[in-house]
This record gives sequence, structure tokens and C-alpha cells, in this order.
Amino acid sequence: KKISIIGMPMDLGQTRRGVDMGPSAIRYAGVVERIKRIGYEVEDLGDIAINRPKQYELDENQKLKNLHQVVEACQELAEKVDDVIERGSFPLIFGGDHSMAVGTLAGIAKHNKNIGVIWYDAHGDLNTEETSPSGNIHGMSLAASLGYGHPLLVNLYGAYPKVKKENVVIIGARALDEGEKDFIREEGIKVYSMHEIDRMGMAAVMEEAIAYLSHTDGVHLSLDLDGLDPHDAPGVGTPVIGGLSYRESHLAMEMLAEAGIITSAEFVEVNPILDEKNKTAVTAVALMGSLLGEKLK
Ligand code: ARG
Ligand code: MN
Ligand code: MN
Ligand code: MN
Repeated sequence: KKISIIGMPMDLGQTRRGVDMGPSAIRYAGVVERIKRIGYEVEDLGDIAINRPKQYELDENQKLKNLHQVVEACQELAEKVDDVIERGSFPLIFGGDHSMAVGTLAGIAKHNKNIGVIWYDAHGDLNTEETSPSGNIHGMSLAASLGYGHPLLVNLYGAYPKVKKENVVIIGARALDEGEKDFIREEGIKVYSMHEIDRMGMAAVMEEAIAYLSHTDGVHLSLDLDGLDPHDAPGVGTPVIGGLSYRESHLAMEMLAEAGIITSAEFVEVNPILDEKNKTAVTAVALMGSLLGEKLK
């Protein structure tokens, strides 16, 4: 089986610079060697070219910051992901801020209208420009992929919702905005917050999540490193205390590997400027190893 790496060095979906260096940090942490050792053929397609505005010329729209640059970059990412799937390879994408998921999911949806999504994150990323407290598009990417928000995001690379609401599971949530809570309630989105994870344990949560997604045709893992506790993943722009541990996260990845349902994955929000000796990228690479079946060998 072949894995195709795509880097998305984009930081325009939020306001803390540095997450554009995430793909470099992940590569530097030895990802290619690690995955090859599991027995995959690996190709690195390099990074998506980002049209970077001058620092003081960032988009003036405060409700949707840098919308046009984000859309442009996501469009290119969607094309790359589409092409990788077309060629029968597994897309493994490195971010970059989480707004990129709009592009990833749009590329996947070209091939699969019944994709499942595991959103491993402290946040829901279910805001629209109406509910967002920040105007940062990385907090809107799951809503946009479900069909809610600005038309340029919703209709990117295909004018239809990329993901069905019954095909989504959020794991690790602990910082949801009021509008996001309403969205979850109204749409009936499946969420395992830290409360459920503490109560049930990660093993039971993953068993349920995998069963919940059994009607889908493959599952995309969108893993925001801030889903982990900042102790284990300090290099993120929006850290939230009380998160998933390194061990719980490995268990989750191993259970996904055992279930054999993952058909694509992205690891996002790695910010080397805020990190401690590349710890967060190293953690991301270790989790990729588990996700891709290190333990099963
Ligand atoms: N909910 C907050 C917002 O909309 C934070 C979003 C953080 N998202 C992320 N992908 N790290 O601004
Ligand atoms: Mn195609
Ligand atoms: Mn997050
Ligand atoms: Mn996120």
C-alpha cells in the first residue's frame, strides 16, 4: 500500500504565526522513515504553494480573516488530495492550521460521498462567520464541510456538503463556543467530550465511535494536535488544558488501525514556534505510526 504525503504550510486560518512551519517540523521528526519501516511505499509530494499576503496586508474582513487566501490554498489542496486518491494512494496531510480540512474533505468527497470523519480536537470547529468569536476560519472548517457558512468555503471544489452530519464523530472536545453547542444540539452531532472520555475510558469511546461510523465508506481522521493535553503537545496555537493524554491518543490510533477503517488522515495545528524542542511534531509522528499499524506488525 502506498502513502502520499502532502504538506499544507498555511497559517492564515488563525492569527498566531508559525503553524505554517508544521509540515517541516513533522518531516524533521522523521515521518518518512517511520512509515517506511512499517512497510509502506511512501512518496512525499512536497508542500502546497501558499500565496502569502504581506504581513500588514492581511484581509480586512474581520469575520472571515484571510478568506480568499484560505480558499485559494484549500482549492489546491483539494486538487492534490483528489489526485492522490485517484491514483489509489492514501493521502497523509500535514498542517498547517485546521482551516485546511475544508480542502482535504473537498478532495475526498470527489470520490466518496459517504465518508466518515473523526474530528480529534479540543474544539468543534463548528462556527460560522455569524457565531465565530474570533473570525478565524480554522474554527469554522467542520461546519463548512457540513454545508454551513460562507459559500466560498461550503462550495469549494464542488457545490454540495462534503460530509453528512451522521458521519461525524468529535473526540476530545472541551472548548466549545455557545454557537457550536447550539449547532451540535440542533444537528445531533456525535461528540465525545472529555467528560465522556473520563467516564467511559478511551477504549469504550473508540469502540462506540467505530461502531457509529460503520455505515460509512471509509473514515478520514482529522487530528488537531490541540486535542491532546498541552503537556504532551505544547506546540499549538490554541491550547486547552485538561486534554487527551499521549497514551490515550496512542490507544485511539491503535484501535483505528485494528479496525482498518481509516482511508486518509491529516495532522494539523503543529506550531514549532510555540513548541518545546519539536515535541509536538514528534508526538504527531508517533501517533501516525500507531494509526498506520506499527503495533500490528
Ligand atoms: N472556537 C474558537 C474559534 O472559533 C477556537 C477554534 C480553534 N480551532 C482550531 N482548529 N484550533 O476561534
Ligand atoms: Mn478524481
Ligand atoms: Mn483545536
Ligand atoms: Mn481544530
